[in-house]
Amino acid sequence: MLRLSKSAQNMRTSEIRDLMSVAIDPDIISFAGGMPNQDLFPIAEVDEIYQHLPLKTKQEGFQYGPTGGYPPLLESLSRFLESKGLPVKDNQLIITTGSLQAINLIAKIMLDPGDVAITETPCFIGAISAFKSYQAELVGVPMDADGVIAGKLRQALDAYQERCKLVYLTPNFHNPAGTIYNRERRREVLTLLQGRNVILVEDDAYNDLYFDESDRDLTRPLKAMGTEPVPICYCGSFSKIFGPGMRLGWLLASKEIVRQCEVAKQSMDACSSTFTQMLANEFLVQDRLPEYLQHIRPIYKRRCERLLESLQKFMPAGVAWNRPKGGFYIWVKLPEGMDATEVLKKAIPLGAVFVVGKTFDPNGTANDHLRLSFCHMPEDKMEKGVQIIAAAIQAVQAGR
Ligand SMILES: Cc1ncc(COP(=O)(O)O)c(C=O)c1O
Repeated sequence: MLRLSKSAQNMRTSEIRDLMSVAIDPDIISFAGGMPNQDLFPIAEVDEIYQHLPLKTKQEGFQYGPTGGYPPLLESLSRFLESKGLPVKDNQLIITTGSLQAINLIAKIMLDPGDVAITETPCFIGAISAFKSYQAELVGVPMDADGVIAGKLRQALDAYQERCKLVYLTPNFHNPAGTIYNRERRREVLTLLQGRNVILVEDDAYNDLYFDESDRDLTRPLKAMGTEPVPICYCGSFSKIFGPGMRLGWLLASKEIVRQCEVAKQSMDACSSTFTQMLANEFLVQDRLPEYLQHIRPIYKRRCERLLESLQKFMPAGVAWNRPKGGFYIWVKLPEGMDATEVLKKAIPLGAVFVVGKTFDPNGTANDHLRLSFCHMPEDKMEKGVQIIAAAIQAVQAGR
């Protein structure tokens, strides 16, 4: 028998990944994947960038690079993060292989078996898996429409103060809840964490994906709010603003934390791809990102609106959902007592898929929600997809 490590035994396979095999069937209408639609990738821009690069830069791109990141990208990314008010100079930046690696590195350097990681409920499955793989105990704190519920967070922090080493939050365009924290909630969270011996992992993978320019101010990161009552590990990503295939993310944190992460990263992948770091650097330096964002924001906004309209039109009574201001997701609450897996089982043969709520539950049990992604789905298929899911819900309701 294969004698797997305790940490491997503790890993949860991602239902998102398992579902992907179904989701890539071209006939299935998929609300499952949280990846940008490939029609939207800046391929022509990257072609142009690469063609015009000097040979020496291209050669560098094929080479190993420093573990901390390709120096020109560290510089251009620093400027980009400074423009968001982030305290880059007082901290250190490291480029990671996707922001999921940043989360994993923090988990690796912080968590011993039995330590507690406090997360939101629901929570990004990648973070759940990362924390679990180091045998941490996860404590989920519920959210409302304005973010994590402060009183509940206080209770969790008080109850687990000995064992809790980190708190993981996604204040902007939460995956899967679609929520953005309001200003008051941001302040409350920071105040609450004051004087406690924990670090805050702020996951900001969707920071730039607000729909309306007027909401931009709402996305100001906690790490940019001036006071830092706790060490904040700020994680970001090129996945949603350039392409997930680049596998590039970053971590901005104290020098001490980044130094430890760098040591841990050395034995993982030595460095993130120099080739894609070179491309990302040019994308930033040539100031192509703002234009690209202006192109994709209205498309995502329109897709989201179409999905909301379809939900309004077809969902039976008792189904509820949020209205996102950005990001990729709508979090749909099923009628009382209904199980999302039952709905999925009916929806797949009818031709639509989504991700069931328990995927995002730190305990892996609560299953009364569905996550619908609108980022990948062409608008003309949305209505049909929602009709199928509504029919599946009605079939479960009727016990058919
Ligand atoms: C909230 C959140 N954080 C992090 C990630 C990881 O992104 P990546 O590793 O591609 O940078 C994702 C991906 O979907 C996400 O939704």
